[in-house]
Amino acid sequence: MSNLQQTLSIIKPDAVERNLDKEIKGMFKSKGFLILKEKKIQLEKSEAEKFYKVHETKPFYNDLCAYLSSGPIIVMILEKENAIIANRELMGSTNPKDAKEGTIRKKYGISIDKNSVHGSDSIDNAKIEIDFFFKD
Ligand code: CDP
Ligand code: MG
Repeated sequence: MSNLQQTLSIIKPDAVERNLDKEIKGMFKSKGFLILKEKKIQLEKSEAEKFYKVHETKPFYNDLCAYLSSGPIIVMILEKENAIIANRELMGSTNPKDAKEGTIRKKYGISIDKNSVHGSDSIDNAKIEIDFFFKD
């Protein structure tokens, strides 16, 4: 049965800074993702704090929000069958050291904080995150 989904992807500052956006978008397209919408923006720290609110009790929360707002990012709505899990698989493990060959984080991630991409982790969060960036 068809299960077309949309998910939110972010190319994080470390990857935008290294001009990896074309390569990373190429990896999405070659796996059959459609990029329905995209924009390049820079968040205020307060906006990053709102986006990552789910992590507010974690020890890495402040650094994470400072980092996400440290430079331009590219936010995208990706569409594909089972897009949420398919994107998580293409991204690879949070820590690039643990990421499998062929994943974006294995190829481009620098460290657990500078891991090049974000992807929604559930249907509910995909909706929340898409609205966060693309609600008109
Ligand atoms: O991004 P992902 O969903 O794979 O991981 P997460 O557990 O939702 O964490 C969000 C982000 O916080 C990660 O992508 C990392 O950049 C960062 N993080 C960190 O800096 N240090 C950790 N120990 C765990 C996560
Ligand atoms: Mg996450």
